[in-house]
Amino acid sequence: MAAALGLDTTGIDGSPRAIALARRKAAERGVDVRFLVADALDLGSLGEVFDTVIDSGLFHVFGDDDRARYVDSLRAATAPGGRVSVLCFSERMPGDFGPRRVTQDEIRASFSDRWTVEAIEAVGMEVNFSPDPVPAWLATIIRGE
Ligand SMILES: C[S@@+](CC[C@H](N)C(=O)[O-])C[C@H]1O[C@@H](n2cnc3c(N)ncnc32)[C@H](O)[C@@H]1O
Repeated sequence: MAAALGLDTTGIDGSPRAIALARRKAAERGVDVRFLVADALDLGSLGEVFDTVIDSGLFHVFGDDDRARYVDSLRAATAPGGRVSVLCFSERMPGDFGPRRVTQDEIRASFSDRWTVEAIEAVGMEVNFSPDPVPAWLATIIRGE
């Protein structure tokens, strides 16, 4: 989506299979994207700084310790003023199938140190196990100094 808007785009996932599928989709859509198999908990190892990071369904897979590592990793891959969007399941989602449910307070707590949580919107998230979108949060977070 970002690449189709003409933005210089890097897509990452830890799974080679996920990246292979993404590469195929990008080719089908005729968009130019750099895809990397990489660990989102160690983005600093890429040695790059991104203006915007879009997290689609990643934050909610991490346990408490890895959440903190992830936020540090995001800090290493952004500059002050950088923008992070997090799309994650909300606690309004019924059942316990799949990744964790996340509250707004948990998002705010994770990004409390030198980040500003600009907005958290209630949205529907498309998933491959339900015909209907599931309740999710879309958080917009800005990196401080
Ligand atoms: C719920 S899926 C979301 C997939 C995709 N981003 C989407 O929106 O459809 C979570 C993804 O996070 C990836 N993942 C989990 N831990 C990761 C890590 N430490 N680094 C990079 N990717 C990771 C998994 O391989 C999986 O593809």
